[in-house]
Amino acid sequence: MKRVLSGIQSSGQPHLGNYFGAMKRHVEGQSQYESLIFIANYHALTTVRDPELLRKLTLDLAIDYLAIGLDPEKTIFFRQSDLPELHELAWIFSCITSMGLLERSHAWKDAKAKGKKEATVGLFTYPMLMAVDILIYKPNLVPVGKDQKQHVEMTRDIAEKFNHTFGETFPLPEPDIDESVQTVIGTDGEKMSKSYGNTISLFATDTEIKNQIMGIVTDSTPLEAPKNPDKCNVFQLYSHLANPQEIATLRDKYITGGFGFGDAKKLLLQKWHDTFDPFREKRFELEKNLDYVEEVLQSGAKKARSIAKTTLDEVRAKVGF
Ligand code: TRP
Repeated sequence: MKRVLSGIQSSGQPHLGNYFGAMKRHVEGQSQYESLIFIANYHALTTVRDPELLRKLTLDLAIDYLAIGLDPEKTIFFRQSDLPELHELAWIFSCITSMGLLERSHAWKDAKAKGKKEATVGLFTYPMLMAVDILIYKPNLVPVGKDQKQHVEMTRDIAEKFNHTFGETFPLPEPDIDESVQTVIGTDGEKMSKSYGNTISLFATDTEIKNQIMGIVTDSTPLEAPKNPDKCNVFQLYSHLANPQEIATLRDKYITGGFGFGDAKKLLLQKWHDTFDPFREKRFELEKNLDYVEEVLQSGAKKARSIAKTTLDEVRAKVGF
């Protein structure tokens, strides 16, 4: 069975963009593949410098994933920081990775150009740590969003360099980028992103979600007039949640007219509840049972460590330790 691995870095409250871009696929992958998913909290330390917040973001993300259906019986689900082994491999990789490779990273160039983030060594070696936490499990596939493609390519470069230097060790992992996933647009029609403040959350309260959905920007076509569904943010968002028949029905209503954007928003709100209420309930239960969440993460770490240690032993012998 093919092995898939992916890491996720928390950026606070997950939204529809995160869900359709990555989270849903991670959960679906668990029935098809041998699946490992981890919370990239070592990577998160490149931006978060508040211990309480880092701990909270890590735990919240674990709860979010369990709530949306990640099954710890099927997926090895763990916290990156429970594997200090990663840093031994990181040192070894740092001795074969050229500065030039890391300097080509878009994320690094961006950080330096914009000057928004402090250009730390950690930010510079970020892709190398990512190579470590991919290669140490020797996965076949790495499901990631388009923005992570370069990182997986760098991982392959580092694997090749190692194999070339010390003998065949790491199979080259394939990035698994689902091009068919349309970018989820936000309430203002731009790409949905926390930094644009245009998100629709997965786990918001009833009032919050109502405000987010009712606040979706629409044009001023009067209620009676026919409307173009393909130019409407509400319709776009509805299409992610509804089935093809429901989408076709709504399309008809737009084209026929006599149907307002307010009506469309109500439909979307209902659909959101139908889809996410079960996850919200599960999340609510999990929050009352944090010992269970911790147990899941620790037992996942144990399994991941055993894979990691096998690779590390092999690598140590190959490099001459
Ligand atoms: N950099 C990834 C992101 O920001 C998170 C990540 C860290 C990751 N290590 C990984 C993803 C290994 C895939 C595989 O989304």
